[in-house]
Amino acid sequence: MWIVPIAARRMLKGIAGCAACLMLAAAAMRAGGQTAPVEKTSTAQSAKQARQLDWWKNAVIYEIYPRSFQDTNGDGIGDLNGIAKRLDYLKALGVDAIWLTPVYPSPDVDFGYDISNYIDIDPQYGTLADFDRLVANAKKRNIRVIMDMVMNHTSDQHEWFIQSRSSRDNPYRDWYCWQDGKGQTATDKGQPPNNWQSLFGHSAWRWDQTTRQYYYHKFYVQQPDLNWHNPAVNDAFKQIIAFWLKRGVGGFRFDAITTLFEDPSLADEGVRLDKDGNPIINAYGDPQLDGSKTDNQPGVHEVMEEMRAEADKFTTGDFPGTRVLIGETYMPNIGELKKMYGTPDKPEFHLPMDTQVGMIDKLDVTEFRQRLIDAETHLSSHIPLLLFDNHDVRRIDARYGDGVHDVDIQRVMATILLASRGSALVYYGDEIGMKTTPPERKEDVKDPIGIIGWPTEKGRDGERTPMQWDANSKAGFTTGTPWLPVPPSAKTINVRAEKIDPDSLFAWYTALIRLKKTVPAFESGANMMLDPENTKVLSWMRQATGTPQVIVCVNFTANLEIVDLTLGEAGMRARELKTLLKTPGGPDTEAINRIVLGPYGVYIGEVQ
Ligand code: GLC
Ligand code: CA
Repeated sequence: MWIVPIAARRMLKGIAGCAACLMLAAAAMRAGGQTAPVEKTSTAQSAKQARQLDWWKNAVIYEIYPRSFQDTNGDGIGDLNGIAKRLDYLKALGVDAIWLTPVYPSPDVDFGYDISNYIDIDPQYGTLADFDRLVANAKKRNIRVIMDMVMNHTSDQHEWFIQSRSSRDNPYRDWYCWQDGKGQTATDKGQPPNNWQSLFGHSAWRWDQTTRQYYYHKFYVQQPDLNWHNPAVNDAFKQIIAFWLKRGVGGFRFDAITTLFEDPSLADEGVRLDKDGNPIINAYGDPQLDGSKTDNQPGVHEVMEEMRAEADKFTTGDFPGTRVLIGETYMPNIGELKKMYGTPDKPEFHLPMDTQVGMIDKLDVTEFRQRLIDAETHLSSHIPLLLFDNHDVRRIDARYGDGVHDVDIQRVMATILLASRGSALVYYGDEIGMKTTPPERKEDVKDPIGIIGWPTEKGRDGERTPMQWDANSKAGFTTGTPWLPVPPSAKTINVRAEKIDPDSLFAWYTALIRLKKTVPAFESGANMMLDPENTKVLSWMRQATGTPQVIVCVNFTANLEIVDLTLGEAGMRARELKTLLKTPGGPDTEAINRIVLGPYGVYIGEVQ
């Protein structure tokens, strides 16, 4: 087993000649004592500082897949300077922060999620100097930069793993998860230690001939899992985090966080069965396992408490203010999600992703209502982080669209995302309605899971296509050959066209974000579900003390629907409404007892 029996901290000191370790140590020393005293010189200043501390509570966080956002040097791959070039666009949209998926040096097996050096920038994206300039230019526009932090695994090309696999007594051996095989002998490698599987298909164990042991990889073979039972690993990441915090980042999105630990018993995982008692087979042809020994194991909360304490050392009342910790938290239920916030004494994430709401994957009013009620009532006073998609899942069109009313349905989703209480993640291109465009032929697939799982699993290329800036053949993304093809839909779905169209989806996102930031009930008001029996229209009210109530109604059907919010026990008093936003060309509404919605129509009004 890979639980570290040795004094790993001492070992770390003993490792000679590791450039990355020394740089980290130096960075951590420079970063020491970052907690700046907050001086209360004037009320205006304290109000400003309070805003900087609370910025994440009603935030719009825009996820950028840097490879696909904007290329500036013609190599067909987006870069940091490209992001910097588009900051005014992001400002106009109204975002508070951008989260960059990994831009660290990487062999790109998993396009950045296999990191070979955590304290540099991959040359294809730019340099550390470009990064610093991006942070500074973003700051001028009040936009924070959030980094992705991948702690479960490194690349197999990371110096730590190169060392670790070089011999059984290398000081880095216990930084990864090494095991003997089942029935292994001096001449026979035996079988993998247990039935655990990679999330990307097949056994999670890889035989390493040089040192004659198996290593564990929850993701690709080239992404060996770190051994989080080893305190040296924990220390190394605190230093990495400090390195970026010191550079002024606004926080981190912690990747695959529930997979940090595995059950030390190494017991097999259970196989999921269908209703006839037969194993469910996944897209890779393997039996589906229950994840009971490799996901959400004890230890994750302690690690996150420590990372939070580290980030809080850098939190000041000045920009970027609170250094926010976002979690990639696909939790099984709201109770488990709540735990990810930690406790008042030992906080963990500020914003663990709420995938309960965003991943329902069908337009079911009752289901949405219940999940939104859960987010409102089961997370104490924590801030929910809503999202509908990201670089790992098909975009909104593919999961909620009907092929006929896609833009209207995208308006519905945007409204749930941005008119509900809490913070929101917007995936690049969703604001213009980019469509999931998977490769048509296996030979065009870039994401390896699309090759392993073809054709059931076509991989994630379809949601990572180049940002559609204009209608030209390369969509304004590059002058070279884009690393993934520009979807044909770029002809009509693009920023240039939508910016001048007041009825576009882009105009809708911009208007919603403006409301989120300027209407007091939207800024902080509670969410209260209305008309609770309605199975066609989802309606809710936002209410903050001493300010007008705002109602939001979204039609989940392709028919005209009329709602009367005065009905029933919890009905509201009949009042007039002032329209704040409604679907372009949608019917008129004037009063709470007669809100008229076209197919997939949306109405937002202030109660008079
Ligand atoms: C996360 C990332 C995904 C990546 C995986 C392994 O789920 O979002 O893109 O492949 O972790 O790092
Ligand atoms: Ca792990």
